[in-house]
Amino acid sequence: MRRHIYDSADLDTQPMVIAIDGPAGAGKSTTARLVAERLGFTYVDTGAMYRVITWIALRDRIDLDDGVALGHASERHQWDVEHRRVRVDGEDVTLALREPRIDRDVSRVAAHAEVRAILRERQRAAAARGNAVIEGRDIATVVAPDAAVKVYLTADESERTRRRAAEQFGRDEETLVGELRRRDEADAEQSRPASDATKIDTTGLEIDDVVERILRLADSVVAARQ
Ligand code: DC
Repeated sequence: MRRHIYDSADLDTQPMVIAIDGPAGAGKSTTARLVAERLGFTYVDTGAMYRVITWIALRDRIDLDDGVALGHASERHQWDVEHRRVRVDGEDVTLALREPRIDRDVSRVAAHAEVRAILRERQRAAAARGNAVIEGRDIATVVAPDAAVKVYLTADESERTRRRAAEQFGRDEETLVGELRRRDEADAEQSRPASDATKIDTTGLEIDDVVERILRLADSVVAARQ
């Protein structure tokens, strides 16, 4: 009988990390959230962390080219993304993090080594606690290279634009394609598949099929441990 990861007691003694990387609009967030729900794992959205720092920078009018100041801002404020609502210094910013102004500037903030060093430390702490699905760009390559399951999601540009349009209704497609291309370019340096990642092209796939494929990968890791 196929052994299911969620029947597995050994996750207590051998906690597992599932890394899900890929470009904007590839379906990472929905997939990662569902995989985490199915397994009772913590869901860690590392893109939301970069969005939080961007939100703080815009609120406090920090120069987006000043990596040192942005690094300080990352440390100085109270925030975490591991709950349904994201709060910064007590203020609920869950919806604000998805605003186009954050989309526009987040890659610029995420490009600074000072910011990445601080956020990666928090991401590694989450990985060390284990039994987590961690979603981002550099999780399998840099943050958690020992993750038991590494997945790189992709999708056609037209599909990624369509998903963006569904999230941000009212915005025209041409603008969204332009934004997506700019972000792909700006994020290219951080966003590479790990050589041992399983690549899944989600174009035309149902989200549940993608989730199932990832659960099967996790199953096989558990089976190999027996
Ligand atoms: O996945 P997202 O759209 O919420 O990510 C927001 C931005 O953060 C994205 O433009 C790239 C950056 N990012 C990153 O550089 N490294 C990560 N691990 C996650 C996100």
